[in-house]
This record gives sequence, structure tokens and C-alpha cells, in this order.
Amino acid sequence: MRVVLGVGGGIAAYKAALLLRLFTEGGASVRVVPTEAALRFVGEPTWAALSGQAVATDVWSDVHEVPHVRIGREADLVVVAPATADLLGRAAHGLADDLLTNVLLTARCPVLLAPAMHTEMWQHPAVVANTALLRERGVHVLEPDSGRLTGADTGPGRLPEPERIHAAAMALLAGDGGGAAVVPPVRDLEGRHVVVSAGGTREPLDPVRFLGNASSGRQGAALAVRALARGARVTYVRAHTEVPDPAGAHVVPVSTALQMRDAVLTAARAGGGADAVVMAAAVADFRPAAPAETKIKKSGGSDDDGARLDLQLVRNPDVLAGLVAERRSGGLPASTVLVGFAARRATRPAPSSSTAASRRSARAPTCWWSTRSVVAGPSGTADNNRRHHRR
Ligand SMILES: Cc1cc2nc3c(=O)[nH]c(=O)nc-3n(C[C@H](O)[C@H](O)[C@H](O)COP(=O)(O)O)c2cc1C
Repeated sequence: MRVVLGVGGGIAAYKAALLLRLFTEGGASVRVVPTEAALRFVGEPTWAALSGQAVATDVWSDVHEVPHVRIGREADLVVVAPATADLLGRAAHGLADDLLTNVLLTARCPVLLAPAMHTEMWQHPAVVANTALLRERGVHVLEPDSGRLTGADTGPGRLPEPERIHAAAMALLAGDGGGAAVVPPVRDLEGRHVVVSAGGTREPLDPVRFLGNASSGRQGAALAVRALARGARVTYVRAHTEVPDPAGAHVVPVSTALQMRDAVLTAARAGGGADAVVMAAAVADFRPAAPAETKIKKSGGSDDDGARLDLQLVRNPDVLAGLVAERRSGGLPASTVLVGFAARRATRPAPSSSTAASRRSARAPTCWWSTRSVVAGPSGTADNNRRHHRR
């Protein structure tokens, strides 16, 4: 998912850095487009370091790449936070006097603006009219929060918390844009404990080698970020991932399938039982029966190309099945929601076998939800499409 994060020149510009993290932790690629005024509040190095991308600031840099058109066109979502009174006015009237307003004119994806300004400015008839005009045109303009403003004054005009902006953005992407103008803080998981597993396990062959898989961990991270944004307490049992750990989650690092099983079961049982366990990790089905204690040597010299190394693998426990058994035996509350993922190849072998597999899984009432991740290619690292099957 490609997100353009526009930042306006308001005192709340620093909060956009937290918003940026929520997007990147969810696996999004974020291009930050600060206005000239925004750069007086938070500098370019901060945006570049946090986004891991060059920061586009004006229409005159990298002209051969036509950034004033390309950045908007390529975006899946444009979010502006904080959106200043000035930006609302320029966007409402179709001005294109800097890179961000060019992006707003060329984007054909959902656009979410999070205004922040003093109450007098927010309530001025010009700003009220500009906001109404933008909303009429389908731009999603969040209501600012009410609270402490720049000085000692309080009132409506405060930038909504990054979690709320992020939740509104996610709702927009999920096609739930109708209410974005007045999105209330979606904290419906407040008081809930959600365990999320993520990443790919590694099964040691010897002290320096392992059998692994190409899981990036993006799906688990995105689920954890979403649960956190909705107010849940999240235990994030993480094997090897390519994405940062979600801020605010209790992180339990693991490496092997056995460690994953133990950590997930411990987290799920804690405090009387988790409300939900989401098994998004790619857990190895097999592990070497007897990992070597020292590095396995290459036997012989250059002329033994065809030499074989026979590995014996043993089956790893099925973590999801273990959770189901635990719930059945009363170790977890009957209300604990269990969610599993199964990877399947993008090209189905034959419709009949797939149907048979679905029927088989429908007969096995193991977990409440199972979702199939489509493995895009041999490596399987592409972002996954999901199909959901209620069980
Ligand atoms: C300290 C300070 C804080 C400001 N805070 C805000 C603000 O929260 N909201 C706003 O609309 N303008 C604010 N402004 C005014 C904007 O920076 C000014 O209108 C600027 O032209 C906005 O440029 P931009 O819309 O291109 O980012 C502030 C200015 C200063 C000096």
C-alpha cells in the first residue's frame, strides 16, 4: 500500500511523525510531502529517516520524474495531517502552488484531511465554507478534537490523535468512507487482550544455518497495529520479520516453531485467557530431527559436486490445533476467538481438489476464522490477498 503523507505547517506537525510510524509498522510504503512551512516545524531528515524514503518537498526537484503528477497518481491513499487553514483553502480552490497541492489535484485515491488550527480559525466562515466544499467533492475531512491548543487556550481545533487518524484512514481503505468526516475514535477493543503471531520461524540445521520461509511478517504487524488502534492490549509473538515491531505492543521474540508454540500458549493463557489469538505467523511444519552441534562441513573438495546431505525432518506441533485443544479442555475460555491463516499457491491445482479441501476444512470445526493467504510467487513475499472462511 502506497501512502502519501502530506504535512502542513502547524504546531502539530510533530504528531505526523507518530502517524507515519503507524503506517510503516502496518507495512505501508509512505512518501512524506511536507509543505515549506511544515519543514520549519519538523525537518526533512526526520521524515526521510522515519519513512526510509527521499522526501519530496517541491515541484522543482527530480523534475525528470515529474513528481508533481506521479506522486499523486501512484498513491493508494493521501492523508494530510495537520491540514492547516491555508491548505484547506488552497485545496478547496484547486490551487497548485506547491508539491502537496499538486498531489491533491492528481490523486484519484481516497484523500483524508486532518485539520488542526486555533478555534477561531476553524470556526471562521471561510474555513467552514472551504471544509464544506471539500467534503461535497468527496474529500474526507476529519473533525478536529476539542482540547488544549498551542497556548493555554482550549477548544475545537486540536489535531486528532495519530491512532484516530490512522483508524479513519484504514476504514477509508476498507471502503467504509461514508462516516469519515465524523469518525469517532474507534476504541471498540478497549480492555481486550489480543495475541498476534507474526513472521517466519527458523529451524536450525546447525549453529549457523536454518530452514526458514519467506514470510515478511507484514500481515501480523498490520493486524497488531489495527488491534492497538482499536484499543486492545496486544501481545505480539514475533518470529523473523522485515517490518518494525508495532509501537505499544508487548513483544515476545521467538525463533523456532516450538518457541512460537510455547510463547503463544503462554500469552493466550495469561490473565484468565486472551480474547483473541490471531496466528498470522508462518510456522514451519517440519524441523531437522537432530540439528548439528557444530557447523556442517562441506565434505570433500571441488570434484564432489553431486555429494548429498540427507536431512531427517520431524513434524512440528500445529500451534493452532494446540490452541483449539486448549480451548476445548478449558485451558482457554470458550469465548476466545482463534484466527488461522493458510498459505496456498496462486495457481490452484484443480478446482475439484480445492473444493474438496474446503469441504474437509468446513467439517473440521477448529477455529472461528481461517483465512487463506495467496502466495504470489515462488518466494511468497508479496503482500497477500486474503479470502475469509468462517468456520
Ligand atoms: C508557531 C506557529 C504555529 C502555527 N500553527 C498553525 C496551526 O496549527 N494551524 C494552522 O492552520 N496554521 C498554523 N500556523 C500558520 C501556518 O504556519 C501558516 O498559515 C502557513 O502559511 C501554512 O502553510 P502550509 O499550509 O503551506 O503548511 C502556525 C504558525 C506558526 C508560526
